[in-house]
Amino acid sequence: MRYVPAEQLKPGMVLGQGLHDASGRMLLGKNTRLTAENIKYIIFLGTGGVYVDDEISKDIELYDVVKPEVKNEAVWLIQNVFDRTSEQDNLHPEESLIRLVVENVVNDVLSNEEVMYNMVDIKTYNDYTYFHSMNVGVLAGILGAKMELQEDELEDLVTAAFLHDIGKVFILPQLVNTQRRLTPAEQEEMKNHAWAGYEYLRKEFSFGENVNQTVYQHHEWYNGQGYPNHLKGRQLCRNARILKAADVYDEMTSKRPYREAYQPAEVMEYIMARMGMEFDPDVVETMAARLCIYPLGSEVVLSDGRHAIVVENHPGFIQRPTVRIMDSGEELNLRSDRSAYNITIVQLLM
Ligand SMILES: [Fe+2]
Repeated sequence: MRYVPAEQLKPGMVLGQGLHDASGRMLLGKNTRLTAENIKYIIFLGTGGVYVDDEISKDIELYDVVKPEVKNEAVWLIQNVFDRTSEQDNLHPEESLIRLVVENVVNDVLSNEEVMYNMVDIKTYNDYTYFHSMNVGVLAGILGAKMELQEDELEDLVTAAFLHDIGKVFILPQLVNTQRRLTPAEQEEMKNHAWAGYEYLRKEFSFGENVNQTVYQHHEWYNGQGYPNHLKGRQLCRNARILKAADVYDEMTSKRPYREAYQPAEVMEYIMARMGMEFDPDVVETMAARLCIYPLGSEVVLSDGRHAIVVENHPGFIQRPTVRIMDSGEELNLRSDRSAYNITIVQLLM
């Protein structure tokens, strides 16, 4: 299986993974042979790309840390909570459901601890907030597990991640899933969402202060220059420091209607450059070791102009995976092959 950006899909390609919307509705099933119409639809949804099965990638097996069905369930649940919150519905049944889905995510994370975060997250900008919240939950969970958080603390972290932006429903509800960039005034007003989310969780749920505070603090900076309370360093709860980094990473690597996605390698550089300033150094260190900036099965452009597919990542050497050249099928281990020492990856196609 390999990842193909939406713009590069061709009729006849076969889907390696089903495509779902936030409600869990199957849009296109696994093994669908794509038609020109399907491809137009995928582009219309704002989906960055999809996984396909083909000759050059048939032996590449992808291990998702969290099972696709658990992710779909989480997106559906998050959408449900957002919808019902904005309708001011009685939320009590959701609390036990949230706990259940969070447990499933944490179980998957803990049973796959050696697997790196290796997939390109499929997200559409139509339901951006829900997919984003799910992705942040999974990423934060993986980082937290690597930082040796206890199981109950991991559950708190994933719960907070799923609900971190719920306060937006109370501030500017019509802008929660907007496809345009917020104006400076709206951005300023939206800053109240951290507090609003905290108040809402505190009053309506019983997840506890660790979850509520994490939501409250998810826009604070490590050096105290964030908002709303300018907390810094260890004044911030650990889960908030992890959530902050996961939130920024997923947001910047997402394609938005008003800008292209940044490359994971660029975002990692941005986050590393701001370590100790915006981000907790311990979290950044874990991120740099565990996140694949060139996910398995993705297509990259090498500095000699050739295109290749990533077939293996080497923990600790995330810039230098083993790749398979598209035209020849030849494999290059960018970490250990002498002939490849002067070859770098210049672009990830996404
Ligand atoms: Fe936020």
